[in-house]
Amino acid sequence: MKTIRLASLTKKDADLIIAARKAADNAYAPYSGFAVGAATRATDGTIHIGANLENASYGLALCAEVSALTAANTFGDFDRLEAIAVVGFNFFPKVYLSEIVTPCGRCRQLISESAQLSGIDIDVFASSGDLERIEQYKISELLPQAFGPQSIHSSNPAKPTSTEITSREHPKRLLRKK
Ligand code: THU
Repeated sequence: MKTIRLASLTKKDADLIIAARKAADNAYAPYSGFAVGAATRATDGTIHIGANLENASYGLALCAEVSALTAANTFGDFDRLEAIAVVGFNFFPKVYLSEIVTPCGRCRQLISESAQLSGIDIDVFASSGDLERIEQYKISELLPQAFGPQSIHSSNPAKPTSTEITSREHPKRLLRKK
């Protein structure tokens, strides 16, 4: 784990954290009053974002990381992620911006699956809501001895194929870096 400041990060890492922070503004979190944003970055620089999504049936809440990872998967990037940033803060009944948010256990498992697919020990940036406190981890630190595709000797890389158009050609790919 490394503690870092936004100003001392590379531009691409700082941009990822800022994208996560912006996504948190779209959180639907009326029950917890806790907004979370996440942003994944693929090896070609493509960023996918997500925010937490709660439900009147409390247990159905979806984490911001799940949203971002699902977006990455939908656009064909789940198996080539190199980094994810998570930013969270309380906004109700009081505003607390200074606590660092690290991914919950389920989200660590989902990030770990992506890491095992790509063979990249994904960087996880965990930030406070004011972006004043940032910690950088590897997913292997957050989830050591992880269970994953390798544990069940799953080496099937097959994906559905289309001869017409692939998701990588989709005209509306989000936030592709120039
Ligand atoms: N939450 C996330 O989005 N990511 C995490 O890693 C931890 C928790 C959300 C779920 C719920 O909507 C709110 O934060 C409070 O737990």
